[in-house]
Amino acid sequence: MRAVVVREFGGPEVLQVEEVPDPTPAPGEVVVKVHAVTVNRSLDLKVRADGTTRGTTLPHVLGVDPAGVVVTAAADVESARVGDRVAVIPHIRCGKCAFCTSGREEQCPNSRHIGVHRWGGYAEYVSAPAKNVVQVPDELGFADAAVILRHAPTAFNLLRNLAEVGSGEWVLVMGAAGGLGAAGVQVAKLLGASVIAGAGADARVESALANGADHGVNYRADDLSARVERITDGRGVDVVFENISDPVVWPKAFASLAHGGRLVTAGAHGGGTVELDVRRLYGRRLRIIGGAGASKRDVASALEAAAQGKLHAVIDRIMPLDAAADAHRLFEKGGLVGKVVLDPTAPRGVS
Ligand SMILES: NC(=O)c1ccc[n+]([C@@H]2O[C@H](COP(=O)([O-])OP(=O)(O)OC[C@H]3O[C@@H](n4cnc5c(N)ncnc54)[C@H](OP(=O)(O)O)[C@@H]3O)[C@@H](O)[C@H]2O)c1
Ligand SMILES: [Zn+2]
Repeated sequence: MRAVVVREFGGPEVLQVEEVPDPTPAPGEVVVKVHAVTVNRSLDLKVRADGTTRGTTLPHVLGVDPAGVVVTAAADVESARVGDRVAVIPHIRCGKCAFCTSGREEQCPNSRHIGVHRWGGYAEYVSAPAKNVVQVPDELGFADAAVILRHAPTAFNLLRNLAEVGSGEWVLVMGAAGGLGAAGVQVAKLLGASVIAGAGADARVESALANGADHGVNYRADDLSARVERITDGRGVDVVFENISDPVVWPKAFASLAHGGRLVTAGAHGGGTVELDVRRLYGRRLRIIGGAGASKRDVASALEAAAQGKLHAVIDRIMPLDAAADAHRLFEKGGLVGKVVLDPTAPRGVS
């Protein structure tokens, strides 16, 4: 098969397509013909640049969320059949820890990742444990399924399970035109919240408004907490869906919380170290909640909502496999609206 094999960590130029043997399924596994896989900063660009920090070994194939068609299944696999349209859920849980054995597998501290710790979907075929594949509803294309599953389940986990967003509450979504942010806007609306979208450029604020947000703020141009105060008639928001951790913007987002509010986060592209006003934290009875990943219920909720047309994937563009290096360069340049998706079935050289 053709695969983008990383043989040394480095810049986008290390992403070279080569011919490698087709994967065969180990017991309990299936092989999927890949039709779509997303490009991500932490799980793709950073692993390409230096995956040693995450325990990636070389040679390696990136690609954490491939979607496509099952072409082979091991003899002992009953949950998936050849011809099934499926998406691969990347987390391989340990199955043994206190979280895994009590139905809270999304909190497993020993989780491994397809596309990081074993070969992923930047290839014509990928193998995966059968328990990691979910059926893609007929209504959904493969690119849509990959993008929905990349972020919407996490958004459900953070907003519904952890921040417990209730109907009628106010939610401020930061980075609202990013991958997780765009999912957050839609999931918060599905949970019945009023949504203020924060983004760092007017075009990205517009994109979040087009995606269903009720109000928008450019937090690089405006005073975020003052704008939120005005929009909410002085009350503030019940939940901040943060996920950026930028030292300048984070305190403004935190200051936007109403009494009893919750800030939930699973990301730190903006730096990761921020100032915390502890007096405000306890005085206003606020909570800061960290989370990551998603449960099977979150995956099911995301697929169901997408099949019903209540959640849609925001895709900037779909590119062929041999454009993987260009896809990474585009991502590094920034300014995208929505995800970049690779389609290994697309003709070479067309994007
Ligand atoms: N399972 C999980 O826990 C999970 C799953 C998915 C993502 N994440 C994490 O969530 C975060 C968001 O992921 P994503 O895929 O949505 O990323 P993304 O598509 O790149 O979006 C991130 C958004 O953050 C904003 N931002 C502000 N400062 C930034 C900076 N210095 N660098 C990059 N972006 C910055 C950008 O919007 P503006 O320019 O408009 O400010 C951008 O749209 C990441 O940290 C990621 O690792 C965690
Ligand atoms: Zn575990």
